[in-house]
Amino acid sequence: MMSERPLANLNKPDVALEMTLRPSLFSDFTGQPKVKERLEISVAAALQRGESLDHILLCGPPGLGKTTIANILARAMNANVKATSGPTIEKASDLAGLLTNLEAGDVLFIDEIHRLQKTIEEYLYPAMEDFKLDIIIDQGPNARSVRLNLPRFTLIGATTRSGLLSAPLLTRFGMRERLDYYCVADMDKIVLRSANLLNVEIDPAGAHEIARRCRGTPRISNNLLRRVRDYAQVRHDGRITAEVADKALAMLEIDENGLDEMDKRILESIIVKFGGGPVGVNSLAVAVGEEPDTIEEVYEPYLIMEGYLNRTAQGRIATELSYQKLGLKPKTGSQSALF
Ligand SMILES: Nc1ncnc2c1ncn2[C@@H]1O[C@H](COP(=O)(O)OP(=O)(O)OP(=O)(O)O)[C@@H](O)[C@H]1O
Ligand SMILES: [Mg+2]
Repeated sequence: MMSERPLANLNKPDVALEMTLRPSLFSDFTGQPKVKERLEISVAAALQRGESLDHILLCGPPGLGKTTIANILARAMNANVKATSGPTIEKASDLAGLLTNLEAGDVLFIDEIHRLQKTIEEYLYPAMEDFKLDIIIDQGPNARSVRLNLPRFTLIGATTRSGLLSAPLLTRFGMRERLDYYCVADMDKIVLRSANLLNVEIDPAGAHEIARRCRGTPRISNNLLRRVRDYAQVRHDGRITAEVADKALAMLEIDENGLDEMDKRILESIIVKFGGGPVGVNSLAVAVGEEPDTIEEVYEPYLIMEGYLNRTAQGRIATELSYQKLGLKPKTGSQSALF
């Protein structure tokens, strides 16, 4: 059901496409200047000292470049990457297997690290801190704990929900970096770069139209670019101009500000069904027929950043801008009239 929705589709990874378009060096990576600078300095310093990198946590909404940066870091360090994800580590022995197979300097990439089970997480603490692993061998009366030494490795964790990580895990990351939505100027560069790699004919105004309507998300811009290319090819002469991009995006029901159907449904629900809010995420999720997690991770951050929503302790509140967007009038005396 979810895959029928525009944004869910547009922010779904396409493995082959991502391999083609993913920057593999910092010099190719556009945007996130502060994060990039801090990471580049850590890499240079670690290389100078001949040490491995500190453990790094990358967080932020989907499609902004967490996996990309993990790979860039490993490559810059000349390190091998072993990649896994929180939900696939089901037993402590799965984790022990991964850790004991690492070689000095290797990068262990754990995607969706917030979905790691708590019991497994506890094995990670000494592994991260002291490069030791305590494993229990045998069962019943013969059971005993054995301490293994691990090589110095770098754990790179990625998460869309750093708020769900426990404090002991969070504090064991020497660096924690948050990726933010890209500004339009950076998105312009990313769209042009991708178009170039895909041999798509596009003019700067055409690229700009995609750049400003992709929710500041490179994965979405890459997917939009391909859809717009199809449209340009079938309905026009193949070249993406501003006009062609605008028509194609309208056909995809991506509005002027990059909001899609679900975004509008969320705003409309808050205003019409919940009187402008405050409303809790669970009630909202039921009203729009989406998972609460997806609302929190995918939709809400962008709506908040763009000023359509406010998140308060009591729940979500629609701002003046939301009313304008939907052509509705704020109720006088409602909380939302404050914004
Ligand atoms: N700074 C960038 N410059 C150019 N392209 C980028 C950049 N960041 C990301 N991309 C593109 O966006 C795609 C998605 O990025 P990536 O897979 O790293 O996101 P992610 O944050 O790991 O997402 P998820 O949370 O869904 O795992 C990449 O394949 C790459 O093509
Ligand atoms: Mg990823």
